[in-house]
Amino acid sequence: MAETTINPGTKRIAIVTGANKGIGFEICKQLASNGVRVVLTARDVRRGNEAVEKLKAAGCSDVFFHQLDVMDPTSIPALVDFIKTQFGKLDILVNNAGISGNIVSEEERRKLSVDQVCLGQRGRERRGVESRGMRSTDNGI
Ligand SMILES: NC(=O)c1ccc[n+]([C@@H]2O[C@H](COP(=O)([O-])OP(=O)(O)OC[C@H]3O[C@@H](n4cnc5c(N)ncnc54)[C@H](OP(=O)(O)O)[C@@H]3O)[C@@H](O)[C@H]2O)c1
Repeated sequence: MAETTINPGTKRIAIVTGANKGIGFEICKQLASNGVRVVLTARDVRRGNEAVEKLKAAGCSDVFFHQLDVMDPTSIPALVDFIKTQFGKLDILVNNAGISGNIVSEEERRKLSVDQVCLGQRGRERRGVESRGMRSTDNGI
């Protein structure tokens, strides 16, 4: 493992996603106030840095910022690298950034069901489920 540049000591290391405001921000504050070293992440660099400054001003000195947009897979490796090289471990992950699912119209939903049946049927044929005498569900899954 790469040499760490910030001595983790015996402190636990936490990542909090979507932490520049709201519940995530408060979680960072509580963790840092309880002796945990916190990596506050936010999708927006300016908002994230401002949040860290706010926590520092409130007396939480062991808080670091790293950018992370949970909807952007390309932003993940940079955070992983940061944690590995700076701390060499991760103890706590608070996945606070809530992303709701896709909004699908009724028409799209109906199309989706048809596709699922087709896929299921093809899938059954491919896997030979029925030829082995197993029962499958209506949508083939
Ligand atoms: N508040 C409640 O009563 C309540 C109840 C049940 C569950 N929850 C859940 O608790 C979590 C936090 O709630 P909250 O009230 O603190 O919400 P909030 O004040 O709206 O804060 C949401 C945080 O998530 C960030 N975020 C949004 N999309 C993101 C993305 N793609 N990548 C990274 N960060 C992203 C936002 O960043 P930006 O500032 O850049 O938008 C913000 O920092 C959510 O998962 C929510 O669903 C909340």
